[in-house]
Amino acid sequence: MKIIKTAFSGSKANRVKEIMELIRSDNYKRVVEVFGGSCVISNNLLKEKIVDEAVANDYDHYFDKFEEYIEFKRDLVEKLLNLGFEKVKNKKLSKEKQEILQDLLKDQESNLLKYLSKNFVFSCRRAAGTMKIEDFIYFMNEIEVDNDIEYIKNLRNVGLDSLDYIDFMEKYIKNNDKNTIVIVDPPYLNSSQKQYGNEFFGLEKTIKLLNVLKDKGNNFIFFNQKKEDSIELLKLYGFDFIYSTKQVSMSGATKREDFMAYVKF
Ligand SMILES: C[S@@+](CC[C@H](N)C(=O)[O-])C[C@H]1O[C@@H](n2cnc3c(N)ncnc32)[C@H](O)[C@@H]1O
Repeated sequence: MKIIKTAFSGSKANRVKEIMELIRSDNYKRVVEVFGGSCVISNNLLKEKIVDEAVANDYDHYFDKFEEYIEFKRDLVEKLLNLGFEKVKNKKLSKEKQEILQDLLKDQESNLLKYLSKNFVFSCRRAAGTMKIEDFIYFMNEIEVDNDIEYIKNLRNVGLDSLDYIDFMEKYIKNNDKNTIVIVDPPYLNSSQKQYGNEFFGLEKTIKLLNVLKDKGNNFIFFNQKKEDSIELLKLYGFDFIYSTKQVSMSGATKREDFMAYVKF
């Protein structure tokens, strides 16, 4: 089995197989991914026919124009190679080449810059927040677009919407629906990352999220950062769950804990 993915800071691509193993024997028909990000969980569960239907929340409208972004990247890479740019991992471009690159990206929208960042922005900057044009000073990583083409082709089978999480859950989750598995991977408590714009998603929003999930009574997968806080929170709600944590790399040698629980009613 091949996990399809696209470069996305905070992607759960490395936990998709684990999720598949966890839920496979529970025979769900449908997955609802409330905080889609790159929508990698729903995209793969549907592709592998673990479910028949998938709905995901593309809150940031990242995929509205993804095919255009892929075309843009293809053209840009071709231009750069023709101008004598060479792909070198973690080595800054000369000042002159930085200027050429930044000029080609001037006035482009933030989702496109986010998409391109893996090729041009140092990893800790990518994780830190909205991409700034002056951070585009490298030329590295995968320059082919074939994986992204395959990714978006599959993703077009997933029902995408772009709503605040509460409205999304109201719209797509029925009460006590045993056929649906809900995936919640919200911005994390204990995280100082600002990669999701200026909105603060802290304890209040996390509590509102868990209140809705408790009311709805659907089995769900919950992600967060710190094991101790997450366990305490889930226990407060009296949820039955199993969990596992992983160390995932953020940038360079920096790692963080990644907590995942499977909550069943
Ligand atoms: C941790 S990421 C999810 C990553 C995703 N699981 C993946 O593998 O790519 C959290 C996502 O929640 C989105 N988000 C932030 N605030 C939100 C809100 N109020 N309602 C819905 N989504 C929100 C962010 O835009 C971000 O894409």
